[in-house]
Amino acid sequence: MRQTRKLHIKSYGCQMNVYDSHRMADTLAPQGFVETQDAAEADLVILNTCHIREKAADKVYSELGRVRVLKEEAAQQGRKMVIAVAGCVAQAEGAEILRRVSDVDLVVGPQSYHRLPALLDGVAQGKKVVDTEFPPEDKFDRLAQPSGAAIRKRGVTAFVTVQEGCDKFCTFCVVPYTRGAEVSRPAAKVIADVERLAQAGVREITLLGQNVNAYHGDGADGRPWTLARLLYRLAEVPGIARLRYTTSHPLDMADSLMEAHRDLSALMPQLHLPVQSGSDRILSAMNRRHTAAEYLTAIERMRTAQPDMAFTSDFIVGFPGETEADFIETLRLVDEVGFCGAYSFKYSTRPGTPGADLDGQIPEALKAERLARLQALVQSHQDRFNAGFFGRSFEVLFEREGRNPGQIAGKSPHLQPVQVIGPSHLIGEVRRVTVEEVGIRSLFGTLHGEPVPAHAAPMLVAAEA
Ligand code: 5AD
Ligand code: SF4
Repeated sequence: MRQTRKLHIKSYGCQMNVYDSHRMADTLAPQGFVETQDAAEADLVILNTCHIREKAADKVYSELGRVRVLKEEAAQQGRKMVIAVAGCVAQAEGAEILRRVSDVDLVVGPQSYHRLPALLDGVAQGKKVVDTEFPPEDKFDRLAQPSGAAIRKRGVTAFVTVQEGCDKFCTFCVVPYTRGAEVSRPAAKVIADVERLAQAGVREITLLGQNVNAYHGDGADGRPWTLARLLYRLAEVPGIARLRYTTSHPLDMADSLMEAHRDLSALMPQLHLPVQSGSDRILSAMNRRHTAAEYLTAIERMRTAQPDMAFTSDFIVGFPGETEADFIETLRLVDEVGFCGAYSFKYSTRPGTPGADLDGQIPEALKAERLARLQALVQSHQDRFNAGFFGRSFEVLFEREGRNPGQIAGKSPHLQPVQVIGPSHLIGEVRRVTVEEVGIRSLFGTLHGEPVPAHAAPMLVAAEA
């Protein structure tokens, strides 16, 4: 039997990194690595990094400063701690990381995670290792599958990457450089992953891709499948109650996807559709290849197919050349759609992207001012959206115990956090709930058809770890 070693993984950035971190843990489990939440006791610390904005990359270097101290403390106790940097900063910076932080042992890009055991062997031989290749083999075929216990520990919702990379080259974005060209996984592999997750108790699957709605994986019939076709098939997997997907691009909003939302009750009525700006001039400078009007048309088509649909988006303020008039167009688009939430960011210059060389870079103070105005407007829409749920009933998938004893927490179809008083054996189940209070971050409701326990606290049976 192999010696047990402790692994600490810290994930930054998007959900794809969360998924990748799980797959790295699964791949290292047969090597004897067991996960720990405490970096100080780890034999291997992996920082799974994000490069999308400058601040995200800066965070990694400051975290490395902290991990170095832990490594020194471990050395004083006679333990060797290996520090690995994975993810998009690893891909973008490569050996530069080793030059800046000499305590780092391994730098591994997102396409090489299946090689981790071999790369760690190199580290064990005293080498500093960098692997930022885009290898010809398919990492998904070589990454280990999670055990049933590992799946259960992660809960009743799971991510599955179906598409990775991007060929769209928006002028602000590093993704086409860090994640490479767009690649879709074959449908049969995705189906097998979802079946395995469902058998271990997962009830909700979120399909991940940088351009997930451009999915075109090989189907069983030898022809490419659309995302819609994949969703129809996954809705048949026994045990799967809910399907979601993210992130979509406005250029790839096929009719078949709208039809899937119309037809599939398992497909949740919620779409994350980044628009970035409401100004056609800025959209063109960003190389988004659609206008604001075309974006609004996509939203309308979706609403026609599924009237209950709720939308979230991403915005960038202060892209080079953005005037007050351009920014007002963005605010106008927010009002027109009425998003139930959004992520908004100040434009961050990314070396190597075309946006970095554009004239008309916007001062930080002006970016901050626009960001605050945009966020206030989005918040007002979000508050109105949530307030509209007072007294409404809908189904909730319960995911975990709630903040207070006796509470259980889950998500609405629109991804709102919901808390109710209820027994923990309902975790993993879908139940109808009526909303009785709209809080700042959560909706509070009562369960249908379930007696509310008289003494909530004794009902607290620990959820399966
Ligand atoms: N600056 C600011 N925001 C960015 N995003 C991507 N690149 C940048 C950048 N250089 C945002 C976009 C994208 C989200 C994932 O991150 O809004 O949709
Ligand atoms: Fe980046 Fe644009 Fe590709 Fe999205 S579509 S990953 S923003 S280049």
